[in-house]
Amino acid sequence: MMEIKKVGVLGCGLMGSGIAQVCAMAGFDVTALEIEQKFIDKGFAGIRKSLGRFAEKGALKEPADNIFARLKGTTRKEDLADCDIVIEAIIENLDEKRKMYASLDPIVKPAAIFASNTSSISITETMTATKRPDRFVGLHFFNPVPLMKLVEVVRTIVTADDVYETVYEFGKKLGKVPVRTSDKTGFVVNRLLVPYLLDAVRAYEEGVGSIGDIDVAMKLGCGYPMGPFTLLDFVGLDTTYYITNVMFDEFKERRFASPPLLKRMVMAGWYGKKNGKGFYDWSNPEQPVPQDAALRGFAKE
Ligand SMILES: NC(=O)c1ccc[n+]([C@@H]2O[C@H](COP(=O)([O-])OP(=O)(O)OC[C@H]3O[C@@H](n4cnc5c(N)ncnc54)[C@H](O)[C@@H]3O)[C@@H](O)[C@H]2O)c1
Repeated sequence: MMEIKKVGVLGCGLMGSGIAQVCAMAGFDVTALEIEQKFIDKGFAGIRKSLGRFAEKGALKEPADNIFARLKGTTRKEDLADCDIVIEAIIENLDEKRKMYASLDPIVKPAAIFASNTSSISITETMTATKRPDRFVGLHFFNPVPLMKLVEVVRTIVTADDVYETVYEFGKKLGKVPVRTSDKTGFVVNRLLVPYLLDAVRAYEEGVGSIGDIDVAMKLGCGYPMGPFTLLDFVGLDTTYYITNVMFDEFKERRFASPPLLKRMVMAGWYGKKNGKGFYDWSNPEQPVPQDAALRGFAKE
């Protein structure tokens, strides 16, 4: 197996900053690439805050400053040349990801592994933008990365065994619990979670219960930490809608098809908690208000 010392992270948004943080916390040197310095500043400010919270809880093995010192931000691809693994977390767009990999491939040392954190884009379709498809895997983290224990390690038909095992072990070194899966749209978690969330929307449309009652029922009846509508608002309705479309394109099955209500909410700009309104109004995040009244006409009373 290959030894990993230096990690490159592409994109320092919600996921990229979390990935950079857990890599630095695990002792790796990390270089994060962004399109503009301001995005690095924003991502690194979030990392500082999160490290501060870990420190307050006494959950860090060393001073936060030592961890922070292992992190570098850059806007130059050349600074990733000597990375052992490059983990991509830029926007969820196939063309952008392919362009990114095609331009990095001649710069980053040939032995390095490329990993994508994509939620729904085919690893196989992305890896063909490079001359190292056998050294290309999916490494799918969950939000918020510093807290969520799972990472899905995704292999394609051509992934080399030693590359796959190296990344699997790397996942463990990050303090995560890796699971093995292959390049099938949605991997394990979204394959099972997305139909459940969409079914909750359909149940609501059919008048099975109110938003609040369905959430309470699934929380208390199944022991889930939150109900499906709260979870949808957290994930983002726009993100869910995008993933749903990719999965429906792939499988052509109704269980992956977006219910009309979800589509209408996204078209109306109701994206969930991130912009204040989804199945709940989040004006007061401590007390979200179910939007049954506003959604009347889409759900049977
Ligand atoms: N949000 C989630 O819950 C979640 C969970 C798992 C996986 N993912 C996946 O992670 C990836 C990133 O998602 P996110 O939620 O962090 O998005 P985000 O919008 O928060 O971050 C994306 C970042 O990438 C940067 N970027 C865009 N193009 C770039 C380029 N060419 N070079 C360098 N940086 C570039 C942007 O400036 C932005 O800061 C997506 O593929 C998404 O599917 C997201």
